Amino acid sequence: MTFHDRSIPNAPKPPATCVAVADSLSDLMKVVAIRSAVYLAEQACPFEEEFDRNDFCSLHLIGYRNGEPAACIRARFFADFAKLERLAVRAEHRKSRLAFEVVRAGIQICRRKGYRRIYGHAQDRLVDFWARFGARPMPDRPKLVFSDFGYTEMLIETEPHPEPITLDSDPYVIIRPEGAWDRPGPLDQSADRDVTSPLRVVQPAAA
Ligand SMILES: CC(C)(COP(=O)(O)OP(=O)(O)OC[C@H]1O[C@@H](n2cnc3c(N)ncnc32)[C@H](O)[C@@H]1OP(=O)(O)O)[C@@H](O)C(=O)NCCC(=O)NCCS
Repeated sequence: MTFHDRSIPNAPKPPATCVAVADSLSDLMKVVAIRSAVYLAEQACPFEEEFDRNDFCSLHLIGYRNGEPAACIRARFFADFAKLERLAVRAEHRKSRLAFEVVRAGIQICRRKGYRRIYGHAQDRLVDFWARFGARPMPDRPKLVFSDFGYTEMLIETEPHPEPITLDSDPYVIIRPEGAWDRPGPLDQSADRDVTSPLRVVQPAAA
């Protein structure tokens, strides 16, 4: 399993099995399709609760199997913790270990962004699943219920990433596409051009 970096110039086709950052409207449609199949269809979640108005402020990862978008997870970022949520693997792609790859990629990208505390709400039956990634139920928390399921608040406390993105990072690294911080991106290449500040003055339309 590889984490696919689409920012490589002339990138070859993504490997058939990989995890990639959603970076287009088409990718967001894949996320909506996966979560509709899993949460709306399987878990009878109402649309307004599944698509909770947080999808445009989230980082989404998509897991591919044989080229097919098969799994997803999203991350939201707060001052001192990240939250992983909406993990879903399409029923026909379960038991493939893709769930593990997608969760690991989610944790990895949070760590790279400097987060050491990753928070989540695990459906109660999946506490053991999340424990495999180092998540621990948070003590002394009241019962959490929403969308007709019981949830357990869990926290992953990780070691710092060896190369986190910080204010001391190369500024060109900081402006690379999300998750693709180790290769030059489009703006690295743009730095080869002279500073011409090509502002265009748009003339007002004649009355
Ligand atoms: C949860 C989910 C992502 C796991 O993906 P998966 O492909 O089924 O996972 P895997 O088959 O690779 O199983 C991983 C491990 O978790 C366990 N597991 C998976 N689903 C489980 C469940 N519903 N209850 C208990 N254990 C479960 C498996 O037994 C397996 O353990 P093993 O290695 O000892 O066999 C997937 O079942 C899913 O999308 N479910 C619906 C959406 C959902 O509930 N998301 C989680 C919200 S917190």
